[in-house]
Amino acid sequence: MKRVDDFRLRLGQHELVPIMIGGMGVDISTADLALEAARLGGVGHISDAMINTVADRRYETKYVKEKLALYKYNVLNEDKSPVKFDLGRLAEATRLHVEATMGRKKGSGLVLINCMEKLTMNAPRETLKVRMASALDAGIDGITLAAGLHLGSFGLIEDHPRFRDAKLGIIVSSVRALQLFLKKSLRTNRLPDYIVVEGPLAGGHLGFGMDWADYDLATIVGEVLRFLQEEHLAIPVIPAGGIFTGSDAAAFLQQGAAAVQVATRFTVAEECGLPAETKQEYFKANADDIEVNQISPTGYPMRMIKSSPGIGDGIRPNCEAYGYLLDASGKCAYIAAYNREVAAHPGARKVKVWDKTCLCTHMRNFEIWTCGQLAWRLKDTTHRLPDGSYQLLTAEHIFKDYQFSVDQQVTLPAKAMA
Ligand SMILES: Cc1cc2nc3c(=O)[nH]c(=O)nc-3n(C[C@H](O)[C@H](O)[C@H](O)COP(=O)(O)O)c2cc1C
Repeated sequence: MKRVDDFRLRLGQHELVPIMIGGMGVDISTADLALEAARLGGVGHISDAMINTVADRRYETKYVKEKLALYKYNVLNEDKSPVKFDLGRLAEATRLHVEATMGRKKGSGLVLINCMEKLTMNAPRETLKVRMASALDAGIDGITLAAGLHLGSFGLIEDHPRFRDAKLGIIVSSVRALQLFLKKSLRTNRLPDYIVVEGPLAGGHLGFGMDWADYDLATIVGEVLRFLQEEHLAIPVIPAGGIFTGSDAAAFLQQGAAAVQVATRFTVAEECGLPAETKQEYFKANADDIEVNQISPTGYPMRMIKSSPGIGDGIRPNCEAYGYLLDASGKCAYIAAYNREVAAHPGARKVKVWDKTCLCTHMRNFEIWTCGQLAWRLKDTTHRLPDGSYQLLTAEHIFKDYQFSVDQQVTLPAKAMA
């Protein structure tokens, strides 16, 4: 029986351990987590979701406060179209995060940045262009385009000096989405360097409808591999979603995948950005505590733990400070849902909003606990401590467990000293 370490991922001149830790916004896949993957010879992701907020937290900038001060006059206004991001500050925030990360990189692996195109930021093209270009300027090894692939994205950076040398990848959930992307980016004469195929069991937003359970990752991966073979395209395919053990991963590598992308197992790593008490919620979750719902204003279904404090919370939209999900005309589905509830409950001090959530505020505050479908198995990957809590793992332990384990085994960590 083969194990993950019997395979290598070739990306250009790089030969890598075929384990990629997926991007987890907002700063859940921290620089520390991504750097561990790179140090161990694999691939890590930082994320540029809510990058101004992340910069404020990590590099003592004041972007959010400044933006709020500028647009405070608009807080009670339903129309958020005037609330624009300053592109210079957005570039600066991206540069700070990427430079600080890449400056600490060790080992032969890669650090990529996950760019979610669904963060439309009230000016989708302009902001995405700045986000990608400044990450390249700051020395990121590559960019993974995720959630909402709007097809023309490669074109936005085709004039960048690093357009051909940086690694550029995409995340798709069907062969059809891949075909559309390839057709659209044909003009740039630039193929993706890798294709992450994300199935229905993944964490975060899903590239499926509420019928996600009708789909199966191995089937989609097979379709993608067949299509690429027919087209004589040698692009590495990287399955993601529900790959919980080294054996799960090795099975995909034997099927012809070049690597796997994994995330949920790392939510309980010491290096992961979730607060310590939230990591315990991930450990504690049982299968029926996890749901896919439609409360994300992006319109994509999202998987999360049902007791996430952000579900149902009716806070006032915070777009003047954040506003990452405002579309090109300054709209977000949460604003409409919130205003509907306020109008239905005149005089109420606080309303409940169940159908949508203020995703910016709640992701920033770690109050939407998104996870993969198999998060309920996390408790079996560690020890229960005498106080009833679960022992955190190191990213290195989890990474090596994927790399070397066989027979569906999960190696438990050494017991922490009391
Ligand atoms: C907490 C969490 C946050 C995530 N955030 C993002 C994100 O910001 N962008 C993205 O493209 N994928 C996101 N994902 C998806 C992962 O990158 C990855 O593809 C997927 O979860 C892999 O499946 P697994 O979690 O079952 O291993 C997230 C996943 C988790 C668990």
